[in-house]
Amino acid sequence: MLKKLFAWLILLIQYFISKIRLPTGPKNRVFNHIRNHIDNNQRVLNVGCGDGILSELIRLNYSDMYVYDADVVDLRHNKKSSNFHLFDGYHLSQYDTGYFDVVLVIYVLHHVKHRNILLDEIMRVGKTILIVEDILHEPKATILDHFFTFTHRLWARFVCKDKEAYVEFWTKSKWSNTLYNYRANITYTNIPEKKWYHYVDHGMFVCSN
Ligand SMILES: C[S@@+](CC[C@H](N)C(=O)[O-])C[C@H]1O[C@@H](n2cnc3c(N)ncnc32)[C@H](O)[C@@H]1O
Repeated sequence: MLKKLFAWLILLIQYFISKIRLPTGPKNRVFNHIRNHIDNNQRVLNVGCGDGILSELIRLNYSDMYVYDADVVDLRHNKKSSNFHLFDGYHLSQYDTGYFDVVLVIYVLHHVKHRNILLDEIMRVGKTILIVEDILHEPKATILDHFFTFTHRLWARFVCKDKEAYVEFWTKSKWSNTLYNYRANITYTNIPEKKWYHYVDHGMFVCSN
C-alpha cells in the first residue's frame, strides 16, 4: 500500500515537473557574448535551438538577419517562428557548403555522442562557428566535475524524460584540439557564471579561417 502511494507520488511530481517550461539555457548572457560576432544581413543557423529564445533575441535586435533554427525535438516557445526544421541531430544535407555566415552551437555538443559527425556538418555549412559549452577543469576533470556530469545525466533522464540522453563534457584543451582539426583560428572566451549549479567554467569557442 505504502509502495503504491509512493509510486503515485513520484508520478504526480513528474507530471508537475513536465508542465514547467524551463528555459534551456541562459539567454541574455550568451547573447551579449555572441553579438560581437554577428551582424545584419547575415545568415545564421542556431543548431540545437532548444526553446528558441536566443534566436528570438537575435531577430529582435537585428531586423535584417536571417535566423534559421534546427533541433532534434521542437521545444520552441514560439512554434510560429519561421525557418525551423527538425533533423536527425547529425546531418544538415539540405544546406550547401558555406551557406551560413555564422553557426551557433550553444550548450548542445555535450549531448551529442558522435560529435565528430555533427562537427563535420556544422563546419561544412558555416563560415564562422560559435560554440558555447560547460568546460571541465584541467588537466583532468575533478571529482566534482564528474558529479556535475552525473547530475546532468539524471536531469536529462528523469526531468527531461530523455531516455536516450547522452551527456559528456570536455576540458578546454580537448575542445581546442578537436576544433583545430577544422579551423586555423580558434579563440576562447571565458563566460563568467558562478552559481552553485554551475560549478564548471563556461566558455565560447569562435572558430574561423
Ligand atoms: C541544453 S539545451 C540548449 C538549447 C539552446 N541551444 C539554448 O542555449 O537554450 C540542449 C539542446 O540540444 C539539443 N540536441 C541534443 N542533441 C542534439 C543533436 N545531436 N543535434 C542538435 N541538437 C541536439 C536538445 O534537443 C536541446 O534543445
